[in-house]
Amino acid sequence: MDFVHMMSSIIVSICFFIFYCFSFSLQSTDYMLKSNETDQLALLQFKAKVTHDPLEVLSSWNYSRHFCQWKGVTCSPRHQRVTALPTVNQFVGQIPETLSELKMMRYISFGGNKLSGEIPFSIYNLSSLNCFSFLYNQLQGSLPSDLGFTLPNLEVLNVADNQFVGPIPASISNTSNLMKLAIGGNGFSGKVPSLENLHKLQRVRLSLNHLGNGEKDDLEFVNSLVNASGLELLEISSNNFGGMLPEAVGNLSTQLKILEVDNNQLFGNIPSGLRNLVNLELLYLEDNQFTGRIPGSIGDLQKLQTFRLEGNKFWGEIPSSIGNLTLLITLNFAENMLEGSIPSSLGKCQNLILLDLSNNNLTGTIPTEVIGLSSLSIYLDLSQNQLTGPLPSNFGILKNLGAIDISENKLSGQIPSSIGSCIRLEQLVMKGNFLQENIPSSLSSLRGIENLDLSRNNLSGRIPKYLENFPFLQNLNLSFNHFEGEVPIKGVFSNSSAISLDGNDNLCGGISELHLSTCSIKESKQSRSRSLKLIIPIVTGILLVTGMSCLIITSWGSKSKRELATPPSASLASVLRVSYENLFKATDGFSLENLIAAGSFGSVYKGVLNHDDHETLVAVKVLNLQHRGASKSFMAECQALRSIRHRNLVKIITSCASVDFQGNDFEALVYEFMVNGSLEEWLHPNREAPRNLNLLQRLNIAVDVASALDYLHHYCETPIVHCDLKPSNVLLDSELIAHVGDFGLAKFLPEATNNLSSNQSSSVGVKGTVGYAAPEYGMGSEVSTSGDVYSFGILLLETFTGKRPTNEMFTGNLTLHNFVKGALPERLAEIVDPALLVEREEGETSEANAHKQFTRSFSVKECLVSVLEIGVTCSSELPRERMSMEEVAAQLLSFRNKLVKNVRGQPATYVTA
Ligand SMILES: *[C@@H]1O[C@H](CO)[C@@H](O)[C@H](O)[C@H]1NC(C)=O
Ligand SMILES: *[C@@H]1O[C@H](CO)[C@@H](O)[C@H](O)[C@H]1NC(C)=O
Ligand SMILES: *[C@@H]1O[C@H](CO)[C@@H](O)[C@H](O)[C@H]1NC(C)=O
Ligand SMILES: *[C@@H]1O[C@H](CO)[C@@H](O)[C@H](O)[C@H]1NC(C)=O
Ligand SMILES: *[C@@H]1O[C@H](CO)[C@@H](O)[C@H](O)[C@H]1NC(C)=O
Ligand SMILES: *[C@@H]1O[C@H](CO)[C@@H](O)[C@H](O)[C@H]1NC(C)=O
Ligand SMILES: *[C@@H]1O[C@H](CO)[C@@H](O)[C@H](O)[C@H]1NC(C)=O
Repeated sequence: MDFVHMMSSIIVSICFFIFYCFSFSLQSTDYMLKSNETDQLALLQFKAKVTHDPLEVLSSWNYSRHFCQWKGVTCSPRHQRVTALPTVNQFVGQIPETLSELKMMRYISFGGNKLSGEIPFSIYNLSSLNCFSFLYNQLQGSLPSDLGFTLPNLEVLNVADNQFVGPIPASISNTSNLMKLAIGGNGFSGKVPSLENLHKLQRVRLSLNHLGNGEKDDLEFVNSLVNASGLELLEISSNNFGGMLPEAVGNLSTQLKILEVDNNQLFGNIPSGLRNLVNLELLYLEDNQFTGRIPGSIGDLQKLQTFRLEGNKFWGEIPSSIGNLTLLITLNFAENMLEGSIPSSLGKCQNLILLDLSNNNLTGTIPTEVIGLSSLSIYLDLSQNQLTGPLPSNFGILKNLGAIDISENKLSGQIPSSIGSCIRLEQLVMKGNFLQENIPSSLSSLRGIENLDLSRNNLSGRIPKYLENFPFLQNLNLSFNHFEGEVPIKGVFSNSSAISLDGNDNLCGGISELHLSTCSIKESKQSRSRSLKLIIPIVTGILLVTGMSCLIITSWGSKSKRELATPPSASLASVLRVSYENLFKATDGFSLENLIAAGSFGSVYKGVLNHDDHETLVAVKVLNLQHRGASKSFMAECQALRSIRHRNLVKIITSCASVDFQGNDFEALVYEFMVNGSLEEWLHPNREAPRNLNLLQRLNIAVDVASALDYLHHYCETPIVHCDLKPSNVLLDSELIAHVGDFGLAKFLPEATNNLSSNQSSSVGVKGTVGYAAPEYGMGSEVSTSGDVYSFGILLLETFTGKRPTNEMFTGNLTLHNFVKGALPERLAEIVDPALLVEREEGETSEANAHKQFTRSFSVKECLVSVLEIGVTCSSELPRERMSMEEVAAQLLSFRNKLVKNVRGQPATYVTA
């Protein structure tokens, strides 16, 4: 079973339907009425040739219905002749010659099956074909040399990801209506013929073949594309192309969004005309032999999101105009010969999630502006340069960053204690510098760390004992420093192959395998732990008295770029005082048109608040004070939201307790408005507003929600339990960043436990929502963080299966949890949300890219299995079997990072909704 195959076949068929519906109205030719029995016969012969049909699509191909009603078959309404064959299945078998009997066929779209053998030549005689698509099969052979003459009406030729060999037929130039030429991921070879008559070409995908001969004129065909005025995509990566990138690249259509020429043998400078391609979003030049300077005019490509030129021979300084590329998400200049200092203008690229300048000859200090890029989340690699001076002290802003590598430079000074705020770090590599003094104690908060390499520096002091408690630490290298004193023995220190301590002066103790001397003076551990026990209750007591505020100063103080991009609500909150009248006006008198949600506790309205010269889009939640508990819920929510700040929690702008025009009490909360509504609306879209989230978007949302819960559970002095997590309470902003909302049922944990101990008999009264509330709550259990973990587990399963826990299919013993658990890992495709398989833009992330994805270590399939397994564990019946949100957040983030690392071109889809 092959999930990616199925995915692509669904993609293809959906694409086909859209295409078909669109073009059908144009179809006016009167077809000769011929016996349509030949069509039926041809279809049945096809059925007979298919040896394996796991989804049993072909069982509907029987005499009980007219063949035009068989699955995957489309007929012309008038003549009842087959015009199209898309498939959604995993057919195994060969293509029968008789398929060519379907003379009226205009679309063959057999993507994503396991069809093998050669395509019978008679099929190439179906001259009416517009769409010839066999992507993702196991087909062999070569394309006939006269293809362009026998199929002159082709608009789509897609044979990507098969095993075709031989040349691209020169006759292709006769298919003057061709819009899409996709042959990536095969064994095509030879020179690419001229494409000069193909003025309608929009997409050309030739990557991953053996095209070109490593010779100067290999890219001549690029010149022939200058009149394809709608060209959006040109992909020629991973071939044998030699020569220079022709100047005519600059004469290609300004519509061009994607240009991938990486992994060839290209040399010479970047053509100056490249600056004309002002709509370019993605530019891959890496792993060639390009030389020269990076032209300053690159700053003209202001739509660029992904820019990779690693593994070339570029020299000279990085132009400061790079700062003009403010939409950049990924920038990789590694492994060149770049020199000079890192331009501080990079600080303007506030969407960067990955920055790699490693392996160059860069000098000077690391600009504070670069460390200030709070968007960085995948990795920051400045290793193997000649960077000097102390590290900037503003590392604390990199809260979402997974990896930092600044090794093999000449950096000096202390490790800034602010690194302790980079709580998502998994890799921290600083080896081979001149860093000195102690490891700052703040590093104790980096509990997600897997690899910590501080070797070959000038660090001193004791080895921090807290490293024993880092659950994911697999490699700790402190060798060649001046550490002294006792080596801990637990955690990572219990495994001698996970730690390197060579070349330190005065270490003692540790496990026996290390062969260190025993330490002379031992600290009394007992007395220390006793005093801790005394302190904790006192501290907690004080916090309770002072109103249980959540004292996460670091996170409070930081403003990520994305937060800044939204209305300046933090400052707004302090100045904005709103009256009933203001809110009445903002919501057009709480009009029905502005009503966006209604529940027992109240109604939510969309509104526009005017203050000074600004207008701010807000959501106003008006409490229904007639409802018992509403006021209490108002208090809970106010308290929770006022005292906490996290990028993945909805931000409250202000609250209003007032009287309405009739003199009744009025209470309302005003939040930031989330333009993209709730996760619920995305997972279960209605027909009027169809929409879909792709895999990465869903995973990002899962990471966001997990971070929010992790924060509530573990980073607040007083843990907060949300108690009502579900997709409708997860709101999405304009960038699809998730914000957990609705704290109406939230509980501060000590309060909850106190209540319980003072009155054991009363149930806590938290019910949450059916399907999402932990089973133990139904049995009167106390509120706990593991209850939220359960709800999160369900939410995760729903996000990736598209099935609500309350779906009618779940009866008796079959629950969403069991449904997923029983199918993993083999039957993944049966449980995963079909909509997830429909990538936007007809699966442009698949085809050649997905091929790359296959061959990499962490595939889409593995990712889905891993994520769903977390969902299953979290939604375990027994609370003790669930994970902690800390662990969940760390794991999801690492899946996300692995996925992004492995999906090339992914950043382009990362931003598109
Ligand atoms: C024939 O096809 C119909 C659907 O078109 C299906 O319900 C039925 O089970 C099929 N019969 C057989 C014998 O497969
Ligand atoms: C294709 O059609 C031509 C002309 O109709 C015919 O001569 C030829 O034999 C056909 N080729 C195949 C493989 O059917
Ligand atoms: C492009 O079109 C122009 C004007 O029609 C023509 O002169 C030129 O030869 C064409 N170039 C190519 C490569 O098709
Ligand atoms: C490309 O465009 C430039 C002007 O920008 C023009 O001088 C040149 O002749 C064009 N080259 C081709 C091959 O069309
Ligand atoms: C190493 O640190 C010590 C002080 O901790 C300092 O005296 C010495 O100069 C440093 N060596 C280098 C090479 O920076
Ligand atoms: C630890 O660091 C030293 C010096 O950088 C290196 O030689 C050694 O291989 C590292 N040990 C491990 C286990 O990676
Ligand atoms: C010890 O550490 C090594 C290196 O990280 C790892 O491969 C191995 O699995 C660890 N052994 C145990 C028992 O954890």
